[in-house]
Amino acid sequence: MIKFKTKQDIEQMREPGWITAMVFAHLKPYVQPGITTRELDRIAEKFIRKHGATPSFKGYMGYRHTLCTSVNNHVVHGIPGHLRLKEGDIISVDVGALKNGFHGDATRTFPVGKISEAARKLVRVTYKSMMLGIEQCQRGNRLGDVGHVIQNYAETNGFSVVREYIGHGVGRQLHEDPEVLHFGKPGRGITLEPGMVITIEPILNEGKRNCRTLKDGWSVVTEDGKWSAQFENTVAITENGPEVLTVAEDGSDIPDLVKDIF
Ligand code: MF3
Ligand code: CO
Repeated sequence: MIKFKTKQDIEQMREPGWITAMVFAHLKPYVQPGITTRELDRIAEKFIRKHGATPSFKGYMGYRHTLCTSVNNHVVHGIPGHLRLKEGDIISVDVGALKNGFHGDATRTFPVGKISEAARKLVRVTYKSMMLGIEQCQRGNRLGDVGHVIQNYAETNGFSVVREYIGHGVGRQLHEDPEVLHFGKPGRGITLEPGMVITIEPILNEGKRNCRTLKDGWSVVTEDGKWSAQFENTVAITENGPEVLTVAEDGSDIPDLVKDIF
């Protein structure tokens, strides 16, 4: 069942959305060769609590951290730990913040120092695929329209879309209905209406779309060892079109290498 949000609810969701986005702005200068993913997790948790919010993922299904940090061939749900970032890596950072009774949920993939041209393309195409999906989040459009533009743009650029991890409704619960697929056919699926708040969070792989979960029960890696990237935003469907809730007004929440897109 989809839980529709009132205008007041959406008003309340702006703050956790903004805090979630500002985590990235705050982390960005720390994403450098030599830092560990655990250090990034600590910095993020401190920032969220300083703003009177709670990390959404801590305690969720037994997860014990603020961030998911997925580096290079890691697809999603990387557990922060002793891994030290090195020049040329890419790291996807997924974070959620709970405040006013509502969650924000977002992901950015950051470069670590100078990255290869191939990695740059993967990050840019992933970002643009998310933005094209968000652009389709208009009342009257269907979820298949959203999935289709994402899949089409990704595959046209030679990348594959991971099927197992999908977007979702978000509100008082981190994961609500509906399921938001990042692939599909135009004109299919449920119709978007004002008051829906959903995440758009495509994961693109350089190689094949197949993934496997490591023995830690969380970390998901590509089967072929090639790299993967993800972007995610929390998006409210309004009468006037999509409103991205997990955004910083000045663009400080996104990596510089995608700033010229949209
Ligand atoms: N951020 C993930 C999502 O977008 C959820 C991660 S929950 C965790 O749906 F427990 F795995 F961290
Ligand atoms: Co999500």
